[in-house]
Amino acid sequence: MTAIDLSATIGNETFQHPLINAAGVWDETATEMNAVLESAAGGLTTKSATLAPRAGNPQPRYFDTDLGSINSMGLPNQGLAYYLDFIANTDTDKPIDLSVTGTKMADQIDALKQIQASDFAGLCELNLSCPNVVGKPQIGYDLEATKEILDRVFAFYTKPLGVKLPPYLDLQQYDAMAEILNQYPLTYINAINSVGNGLVVDPEAERVVIKPKGGFGGIGGKYIKPVALANVRAFRQRLRPEIKIIGTGGVTTGTDVFELILCGADIVELGTVVMQEGLDAFARINQELTDLMAAKGYQKLADFRSHLQEYDA
Ligand code: SIN
Repeated sequence: MTAIDLSATIGNETFQHPLINAAGVWDETATEMNAVLESAAGGLTTKSATLAPRAGNPQPRYFDTDLGSINSMGLPNQGLAYYLDFIANTDTDKPIDLSVTGTKMADQIDALKQIQASDFAGLCELNLSCPNVVGKPQIGYDLEATKEILDRVFAFYTKPLGVKLPPYLDLQQYDAMAEILNQYPLTYINAINSVGNGLVVDPEAERVVIKPKGGFGGIGGKYIKPVALANVRAFRQRLRPEIKIIGTGGVTTGTDVFELILCGADIVELGTVVMQEGLDAFARINQELTDLMAAKGYQKLADFRSHLQEYDA
């Protein structure tokens, strides 16, 4: 029997396995990032880096539930220079995706200028969708601001760049955002960030479960899989085919990965499942995907990518 090939390509990077960590999951420190690279993950995403280190929001700021999680981390990270240095000094054949953001547009531009001027030539992900910065909206929900930042970035940035998007819920939102994204030489989009701003209630304590923003935060895990599937599908139907898609949201099994790829994802990121199960989730889910593909007679991801069927009109 021919071996099953799980490899996938985004930009110039080949991932031997299609599962990597979502930004913010096991990726703030060198110890965590090395552990991801040593696991069965196909690559690494760094914590979204800001120009200067940030402590993030007050604790408690992450809470697990049976169906997922809520977080309001507030971008705790070691600062862009730390992640550039980690990448420059890490010997790995796995792709490393450098996630970058900022609490102001000017900071995001400055961060990308530093990356442009650095030796780093890998994938970079501009996070336009953190729901947890107190007093700051998600750029990805503001069409004008999205266009402005992409205009400013692509005036100087020539390396492979993706954007991490918030979840959209209305078909008109997909039309409007895809029309904007199609105007730029984006390497990929990542759909979706957590669903913000949700609320989890502890009925016994009659209280919210996280401290920042009065308990509101980004929802991840099983709750959000249908939203992630819809976003991947809707953008695959609307974006230029050269713009690849990282599918993120609600994956706990190999079947979930299969569904996201069926909707058009090139690779898939794991978030809450890795927070809850640890890095062994990568090997388990890779194996489940492999078994499912074998049972269906598929040998590579392209055999079913974007092949989701609809009922006839
Ligand atoms: C956070 O640090 O608050 C999470 C990052 C994100 O959702 O983009």
